[in-house]
Amino acid sequence: MAGAAQHPLPVVVLISGRGSNLKAIIEAIGDNALPIDIHAVISNRPNAAGIRIARAAGLKTIVVNHTCHADRAGFDAALQHIIDAFDPGLVVLAGFMRILTAGFVEHYRGRLINIHPSLLPEFPGLNTHQQVIDAGRPVTGATVHFVTPETDGGPAFLQVQVAVHEDDTAATLAERVLLQEHRLYPEAIRQVAEGRIVLENENTVTLDGIPLQAVPVLGNGQGPGT
Ligand code: GRF
Repeated sequence: MAGAAQHPLPVVVLISGRGSNLKAIIEAIGDNALPIDIHAVISNRPNAAGIRIARAAGLKTIVVNHTCHADRAGFDAALQHIIDAFDPGLVVLAGFMRILTAGFVEHYRGRLINIHPSLLPEFPGLNTHQQVIDAGRPVTGATVHFVTPETDGGPAFLQVQVAVHEDDTAATLAERVLLQEHRLYPEAIRQVAEGRIVLENENTVTLDGIPLQAVPVLGNGQGPGT
């Protein structure tokens, strides 16, 4: 992708549940802090709470129920067909809990991003916060990355750090990390929408045309590097 051309950038958001990151993105647009236009919010679960958040904001919502498709490839094909009707410059995974096929991911190469609640590459997958506590890590956080066929494995381009407290449970840690996700994701999306962050090839992300040597950290997450 040679930089985001359209302003505001047409975006499709995919959700599966609560939708708090979607809400943070909608609020950032409302604050004129995010030059994007959400053309549709798509959920694979008909009762996802995030659908109500989208509707309340006047956004178009669509359910593509994965249980109505025989297999992963069939679901992804249906999803791709619907997404492409909106011609998005960026597809944002915001708590979308489906593993996507390599063909789908390849189709959206450079315009498909995800947020994960750990400092990737550490602790990909599920039960992240308990894994962090069990491993005795003093710091965790969240990561925004381009999506590649490897789950939570694509090139990262913005992180936030959060200190782990001695008395943290997975729930208390998840709550503090989530608050920071709500700062992180709108900022990461803004950098993509402004054409500053670009996926150049499989592993290289550039910021303002310069390859990232390390993943930038968004300040004030209250982690040690901030
Ligand atoms: C967030 O923790 C996000 O990092 C992860 O799924 C959760 C989604 O939460 N991928 P919400 O639906 O945005 O509230």
